[in-house]
Amino acid sequence: MSQLKRGLFISFEGIDGAGKSTHIDGLADLFRQQGRQVVQTREPGGTPLAESLRELVLHQAMDPLTEALLVFAARRDHLVHVIEPALARGDVVLCDRFTDATFAYQGAGRGFDLATLSTLEQWVQAKPNDGGLRQPDLTMWFDLAPEVAAQRLALAREADRFEAESLAFFERVRAGYRARFEAATGRFVRINADQSKHLVWQQITHNMVQRGWLAIMVNSAAFKPDVPKAAQATQAVPATGRGH
Ligand code: TYD
Repeated sequence: MSQLKRGLFISFEGIDGAGKSTHIDGLADLFRQQGRQVVQTREPGGTPLAESLRELVLHQAMDPLTEALLVFAARRDHLVHVIEPALARGDVVLCDRFTDATFAYQGAGRGFDLATLSTLEQWVQAKPNDGGLRQPDLTMWFDLAPEVAAQRLALAREADRFEAESLAFFERVRAGYRARFEAATGRFVRINADQSKHLVWQQITHNMVQRGWLAIMVNSAAFKPDVPKAAQATQAVPATGRGH
């Protein structure tokens, strides 16, 4: 009865305050409702060791090389212990940030050498079997002007080392994401994050259905990020596209 599914690796990117989190939760729910095993995780983090490294990176002052090495060390541990095993089981991995964040924050934001980051990327993301490069199947880039993101963040909690950075820093990070997007348009989808949560959610689910990764939702407004989950009902009909 149950069809063998290929693992799916989706990462979510954007400057701080772009509003990824609610949508990652919603997507995890939707994949589960449609019978997929989901691993919802984040970077830096996702394992005990990587979460310890996250604490250091987010709260301790350090030079850019140390910062880059620590995020890649965290990534290696996360890949080996969580991401690769999940993909091998055929699960859906939803990862809040991955290597594009390193190119955007450490590379474009801090000005760290991009060629060195590429070398680290090759080492850290070598696949266990064929030695190819592990990359997300899809990266959703939540694109938003830093001024708008800053207004959203001002209402949120106490800032960490990155959130406390200037608008000019986030302009560079945004440009870094744009450069990654332009270099790999096949892997990326740009989401206009300067819209209501509901419209952003529609863009995301539409994209998933188009790829055949989620079934068409009869009530396409099924998950309303602003409405409590308990009050929502989702009905799915089988996808017509080629699924995994
Ligand atoms: P974030 O993902 O925004 O989590 P939260 O919503 O809990 O704040 O925070 C992670 C921070 O780490 C973010 O500011 C970007 C930064 N970061 C890097 O600088 N490099 C990286 O490679 C990654 C994965 C994250």
